[in-house]
Amino acid sequence: MIVPADPLLAVDSPAVTRRSVVRGYEVAVSARRLVKRYKDGTEANRGINIDLRRGEVIAILGPNGAGKTTFLRQVTTELRPSSGRITVFGVDTVRDPERARQMMGIAPQEAGLFESLRVRDHLELFARLKGLSRRAAAAAAAKTMEDLDLVADANRRVRTLSAGQRRRILLGLALVGHPPLLVLDEPTTGLDPAARRAMWNILRRAVGNGASVILSTHYMEEAERLSDRIGIISTGRLIAFGTLAELTACLDCRYRLTFHDSSDPSADLCVERYATFGELQAEIARRRLSEYSIAGATLEDVYLELVGERFPDEAAQGERR
Ligand SMILES: Nc1ncnc2c1ncn2[C@@H]1O[C@H](COP(=O)(O)OP(=O)(O)O)[C@@H](O)[C@H]1O
Ligand SMILES: [Mg+2]
Repeated sequence: MIVPADPLLAVDSPAVTRRSVVRGYEVAVSARRLVKRYKDGTEANRGINIDLRRGEVIAILGPNGAGKTTFLRQVTTELRPSSGRITVFGVDTVRDPERARQMMGIAPQEAGLFESLRVRDHLELFARLKGLSRRAAAAAAAKTMEDLDLVADANRRVRTLSAGQRRRILLGLALVGHPPLLVLDEPTTGLDPAARRAMWNILRRAVGNGASVILSTHYMEEAERLSDRIGIISTGRLIAFGTLAELTACLDCRYRLTFHDSSDPSADLCVERYATFGELQAEIARRRLSEYSIAGATLEDVYLELVGERFPDEAAQGERR
């Protein structure tokens, strides 16, 4: 069902119509029993159910090859589900892919930029592709460059930019025209921590202006700090989904003790997990620890318990490079 456009708004601009349609829905993205089987038989998504609420940020975590990109590419209509259904603000992505896509800003995991275009022209082009008029596109591009701190680079050709600037442009292409849904596949991979934080601020601002966001990430901290709810995909299934507090509450061992083993000063910090605070205290007494730290379980603990392997975090990525 589509909610009619707000009669108080002019409806000749596609952007206005899109916003009006969005207003009627509390769910930005809904995936039901989503299955994706590639031609070679790989079942990359095996029955994923997930709802992204309007105004919410969801982060999807999972090992390499778990099916995150496959999931997001079905949301963006780039891939067709083998079975199941996705709606974007009530629009079925298979039946009406163009309308669904018009409501999204997309930053793919790997994307080519048009190297010979200037930054401003690139943003304007994408704004036009989203249905904005020439004037509206120019204004949207200018606003996005301001938001992303790219004003000084407006006339530079894309091929002359650094990796960090290119990432920002990719995000800019998703943000331009203020689409109500942002689908971002590892938007901050490869950025240094300061640049990553700057991106978070940009995304928070977009959410403050009404956007809903679904993103995948390789950074635990990104999921913890940026998202309202976190989904973990493993071998094509959504094995956990909820707020950080909900996820950690499901753990058997919710307390974490970190200490140095005094018998081996050269050893790494020891981390042990306990079900109750009493058990943890008993262990501190038994080991006669004088220096230690106690913390509640983190997302990393959830990930480790559910996926059975450590998160492929920044350090691990660095080693792989
Ligand atoms: N075009 C394709 N054809 C066949 N298998 C694919 C294709 N794209 C991805 N896969 C496989 O699907 C699984 C999920 O991949 P992907 O969605 O890229 O995972 P992630 O983004 O979580 O790393 C992997 O086993 C991957 O090798
Ligand atoms: Mg991926």
